Amino acid sequence: MRFSAPLALAFLALYPFAAISQAAPKVPQKPVQKPAPPQVAQGVAQTPPMGWNSWNFFGHNVTDKDIRNAADQMVATGMKDAGYVYVNIDDTWEGDRDASGVLHSNSKFPDMKALADYVHSKGLKLGIYSSPGALTCAHFAASLDHEVQDAQLYASWGIDYLKYDLCGYRLVMNAQAPNDKAAQMRMMVAAYDKMDKALKATGRPIFYSLCQYGWDAVWEWGPSVGANSWRTTGDIGPNWQSIYSILNSQAGLAKYAGPGHWNDPDMLEVGNGQSSGPNNPIRYLTSAENRTHFAMWAMLAAPLLAGNDLPNMTPEVRAILTNRDVIAIDQDRLGHQATRDYSDGELDVWTRHLSGGAMAIAVINAGSDRYSSHPFHLSLAKLGLHGPLKGKDLWTGKDIALTDNMPIELASHDILLVRIAAPK
Ligand code: GLA
Repeated sequence: MRFSAPLALAFLALYPFAAISQAAPKVPQKPVQKPAPPQVAQGVAQTPPMGWNSWNFFGHNVTDKDIRNAADQMVATGMKDAGYVYVNIDDTWEGDRDASGVLHSNSKFPDMKALADYVHSKGLKLGIYSSPGALTCAHFAASLDHEVQDAQLYASWGIDYLKYDLCGYRLVMNAQAPNDKAAQMRMMVAAYDKMDKALKATGRPIFYSLCQYGWDAVWEWGPSVGANSWRTTGDIGPNWQSIYSILNSQAGLAKYAGPGHWNDPDMLEVGNGQSSGPNNPIRYLTSAENRTHFAMWAMLAAPLLAGNDLPNMTPEVRAILTNRDVIAIDQDRLGHQATRDYSDGELDVWTRHLSGGAMAIAVINAGSDRYSSHPFHLSLAKLGLHGPLKGKDLWTGKDIALTDNMPIELASHDILLVRIAAPK
């Protein structure tokens, strides 16, 4: 879809931070110790944000029409009813600054205020994108030295969400503090703080999404600069390797997430795919991969920002994105992110504590098909639980009872996601 292999290489040259490498080593996680609640801005994001973003499908080509279509489809497909609310314009909307320094949108977005009014008329919210640098990742005008002016502009348009992408600011960091990484990181934190103050000064509640690829343990300082979410990784790609590698790099971050401030393992690729060369067909994520990706982003209390072609979504992808039981895991009001309890060969088991004493258990097959000759065996003992546990299989919708060491058959990259009302 977006990138063939040669194009992907060009992309990596353009966006050098984007590569996702190896999965993190699999270590059983200690019980979650919650840090003291941080000062969180604006009262927004008590649960992770849900919506759609233009980048993963449209990339540089997004237009006003695509955003309106996305808003229409969020309503028509039932996504809005399922909880999706933000329609987010990513990079490439920006035009030039006028003599007063006011930024204008480019010809793809003729009237941003009218677009915001349209999105709001559907009961949805509009998001936008910028960078603390002079230029965005795609080399469009960004907010350096215009932070207050840009924040006021967004508020005047009726913007509800800002994704603020480090990108061009790395040049400023390198130029002002060459060979001093610590000073560079302080500059980065200050740049994010500056935009937070500019946003707050508008008086408009604007969700503040940090995008700096997880540098300098952003989960430790994100809340102190008013972040409602922070990217924990480089860019996701529409393939299993990328999704699984990002998933594993989230183990250990649970204690940093909570109401108002969330880890962001990047936007959803559910329904997307990519080609390995100009003449090769697109390989879409399989049904199993779409299910696992969506279920695990819900387990991670991640922002659920769909990134697919909404007007041409298949019924199956729509059913995945609107599965209310899975969304309820993501949106659980306790805001406890899942932890990886154990891995055994191709098997990974994650759990998440939910409100009312409930629990979600995810069993992932990271390898090839595993059927009756060699099924997995789920160890409840390793989870500190005792069977039988009555629950609901959130993908089939059926009742299920989990017992210790029960055999589990799973196709390659598929997931068993079970909600247990009363774990014991
Ligand atoms: C970076 C971000 C992506 C996207 C692009 C836009 O790569 O990580 O999510 O916003 O920039 O240029």
